[in-house]
Amino acid sequence: MKIRYLGHAAFQIIGSKNIVIDPFLTGNPVAAEQEGTPDLILVTHAHGDHLGDAVEMSKRSGAPIVCMYDIAQHIRGVQAYGMNYGPAKIEGIDIVMVPAWHSSSMGGQEVGNPAGFIVKMDGKTVYHAGDTFVFGDMALFNELYGPIDVALLPIGGYFTMGPREAAKAVELLKPRIVVPMHYNTFPPIRQDPEEFRKLVGDKAEVRILKPGEELDI
Ligand code: NI
Ligand code: MN
Repeated sequence: MKIRYLGHAAFQIIGSKNIVIDPFLTGNPVAAEQEGTPDLILVTHAHGDHLGDAVEMSKRSGAPIVCMYDIAQHIRGVQAYGMNYGPAKIEGIDIVMVPAWHSSSMGGQEVGNPAGFIVKMDGKTVYHAGDTFVFGDMALFNELYGPIDVALLPIGGYFTMGPREAAKAVELLKPRIVVPMHYNTFPPIRQDPEEFRKLVGDKAEVRILKPGEELDI
């Protein structure tokens, strides 16, 4: 299985299924090419830098969107699994929608609550945090669904955790590998990922991916 970074918070998990998460590509100054055709499109919350191209991508590929119930009510003309916090089996893949501390809106209107995803596929567990601050219940994600092979964590600050908070999240989640995301896309979220690496120390393997780079797990 591999994880491909598409820039900002957009990733692909490519194994027995091709899963795209938060496909913000149009208007993303650091977007990389996606690989293949998605089978499932996961969206953590309604903000434009996460919902992004999901609807267009779904129309093009036929891949359903997995998102918070309330967001599913707002997107038209595509197949959507509108779920909520909890475990689900969707198209044969174990997906847990978990809370995130953030907001979620579309055109200035609040839509649903923000989320993260834990995806279990091909014997591996991947956690995409979405946009969030660190919170103590991240320890539950490890207890309930761990061990986590890869955690994808925002480090940009301003809208989400910065490096210090994300390093604390690593302590709670205990992932084998952590990949920083949601930084250096725009000026307010400028960060040095090497600072994050230093703060994590030997608590996890930090893999800094450039958009378009992949990680084999
Ligand atoms: Ni957001
Ligand atoms: Mn965001």
